[in-house]
Amino acid sequence: MEYKSIYIKTFGCQMNDRDSEALLGLFLDRGYIIATNPQEARVIFVNTCSVRKHAEDRAISFLGTLKKLYNEKPPVIGVIGCMAKYQGRRLIEKMPHLSIICSPSRLYHLPEYVEKVKNFGVKIIDTDDTQREEAFYESSFLLDKDHAQVVISTGCSNYCSYCVVPYVRGNLRLRKPQKIIEEVKRFIERGVKKITLLGQNVNDYVYKEENIDFVQLLEKIASIKEIKEIDFITSHPKNTSPRLFKVMAEYPNIKKHLHLPFQSGSDRILKLMNRGYTQKDYLLLVEDFYKIVEGSLSTDVIVGFPTERKKDFLKTKEVLEKVKFKYAYIFKYSPRPNTEAAKLTDDIPNSEKERRHKILLNLQKNISSLI
Ligand code: SAH
Ligand code: SF4
Ligand code: F3S
Repeated sequence: MEYKSIYIKTFGCQMNDRDSEALLGLFLDRGYIIATNPQEARVIFVNTCSVRKHAEDRAISFLGTLKKLYNEKPPVIGVIGCMAKYQGRRLIEKMPHLSIICSPSRLYHLPEYVEKVKNFGVKIIDTDDTQREEAFYESSFLLDKDHAQVVISTGCSNYCSYCVVPYVRGNLRLRKPQKIIEEVKRFIERGVKKITLLGQNVNDYVYKEENIDFVQLLEKIASIKEIKEIDFITSHPKNTSPRLFKVMAEYPNIKKHLHLPFQSGSDRILKLMNRGYTQKDYLLLVEDFYKIVEGSLSTDVIVGFPTERKKDFLKTKEVLEKVKFKYAYIFKYSPRPNTEAAKLTDDIPNSEKERRHKILLNLQKNISSLI
C-alpha cells in the first residue's frame, strides 16, 4: 500500500461538504487517488462539526473506529474542521492515533502537513484563524460534475447566543467578487449547470471596496446565461429584504426557494438568542416573499432554548402553522461551551425537549405532505 490514497469522512453542513471537496481536489492535483474506504487509505481526514454535542459525539465515535487501522504501517489520520478548532490539542491527547489537528481556515496547508508527518513522524496542531488562501479553491474537482458549490464568505460575526460557528469558523471574511465570479466561470467552462453560493449568512456579504452587496453579486452571477440553476444558503431574516426577492423573481435561473431559519416564534426567546427580529418582522418578510417570488420556503427551528416556556413554544408552533414551509429542520437546543447562551441554565429537561421536538416534527410532516 505505498500508493498515495486519501479518504475524507465529512460531518456537518454544506460548508464542510464543500471544504472536503476542495481538499480532495488539492490532494488529487498532487498525485493522490480517492480511496473508497478508510482501510485502503494512507491519509484519512475526518471533517468535523461542533454545532450540537450530538455532531461531536458522532465524529468522536468514528475516530474511535479508526484506531484499529493504527497497526505496523499506520495511515496519517487528521481531525479537521470545526471540532478541530473547538477542541484542539485535547483531541490528540485523548486519541494518540491522530497526527494532525487542523482548523477550517488552515485546510490549504494540509498537503504540506501530511508530508511533514510522513517524513519526520511529527504531530501537527494548527488551530489558527486566518483569511483563507484563494489557492484553496483553485482545483476544479467536483464530486457532482453538474453542481458546484461556491463559497462567497467564511465565518460569521452575528454571534447568535447559542451558536458555536463564530468561534470555530472565525468572524465574517469575504472573498473578492472577482475571485468568486472567476471560480463560477471556471466551473461553467467544465460544463457545470447548477451553482450554489455558500455563506453562513449570505446577506452579510457587503464588499465595500467595490460597493457590491449580496443582491448585486447574485445578479451578476445569475446574468451568466450558461447557468441553468442558482441557489444560495443561508439567509438570515434580519438582513433579507424584498430587494433580494425582486431579483429572485426577475431571473429565471434563480431557484424560487429560500432557506430562512426563524429559530423561535417567541420574541422573548428571539431576543435571548440575539437574532435581531421579532415574530412579526419574520411573518411580514414571509408575506413579501410569497407575494414577490411565489416560491417555497424552508427553515431551522430550535426547541428547548433556556427558559422556553409553553407559551414560547406555542409561538414557534404558530409560525410553522402560518408559514407552511416546504420542509423544516427542527433541533433540540444543545448548550455549547463558551457561547453566551451557555451562561444560562439549560433548564428544559431532555424529555421535554424531546416532546416539543416530536410535536413540531409531526406538525411539519403533515404540512409538508400537503405542499
Ligand atoms: N448560519 C446558518 C446556520 C447555522 S447552524 C444560520 O444562521 O441559519 C444550522 C442550524 O443549527 C441553525 O440554524 C440552528 O437552528 C441550529 N443550531 C445552531 N446552534 C445550535 C445549538 N446550540 N443547539 C441546537 N441547534 C443549534
Ligand atoms: Fe450561527 Fe447565527 Fe452566524 Fe448562523 S447567523 S452561523 S446561527 S451565529
Ligand atoms: Fe457547519 Fe457544523 Fe461547522 S454546521 S460551520 S460544520 S459547526
